[in-house]
Amino acid sequence: MKESLLTILRDKHTGIVNFRNSAEKLALVLADEASQFLEKEKISINTPIEKTEGVKFKNNIVLVPILRAALSLLPSFLKFYEDAKVGFLGLRRDEKTAVAQVYYNNLPKISNSDDVIILDPMIATGGSGSKAIEILKAAGVRENKIIFVAVICASEGVEKIQKQYPDVRIIYVHKDKELNKDKFIVPGLGDFGDRYFGTL
Ligand code: PRP
Ligand code: URA
Repeated sequence: MKESLLTILRDKHTGIVNFRNSAEKLALVLADEASQFLEKEKISINTPIEKTEGVKFKNNIVLVPILRAALSLLPSFLKFYEDAKVGFLGLRRDEKTAVAQVYYNNLPKISNSDDVIILDPMIATGGSGSKAIEILKAAGVRENKIIFVAVICASEGVEKIQKQYPDVRIIYVHKDKELNKDKFIVPGLGDFGDRYFGTL
């Protein structure tokens, strides 16, 4: 399922409706995958037949989509994590240098025990991802409470984040081969935000 949805996203002939629907479906699968890293606790329940054990998530969840492109993933994550708090980080890569600049920071109060899921479909140089983790750490979030969810990453970017923040868990659908001279992922899918929001 993940590979077939990713193929639709990569295809330059995919129109905006199919791109949006496929991104949202893929995010549902990723929302489920992210749950492997969330702490659970055992609970006792009664089925109509007898008492049995089940699990529930132990901690509150905070979703942090990096604007803009991660707004595509947010509705699907909210279907799974219905009572999650949501914090927004606006980061934009400079078109010439590809260095990420922060233009919006609106995080909720995050407690020590909260599990924080950063959403960003693309990890290219890793600059935006690293900056987001740096901001969360400065707000008191421990690295081992952070899960980073992406769709496509480039080795360069994911290695940068893993080296700087080894305790952050990173989930992605595919690691692509390289970055081009404009720091776009190759083969990639082009500019995710522009394709999703129709701003090409
Ligand atoms: C894209 C993407 C990531 C970032 C990845 O955002 O959504 O946030 O680039 O690149 P990096 O790993 O080299 O930092 P962009 O800056 O294009 O903004 P947008 O989401 O508003 O389109
Ligand atoms: N951001 C994107 O949307 N695509 C890339 O290939 C790199 C950064």
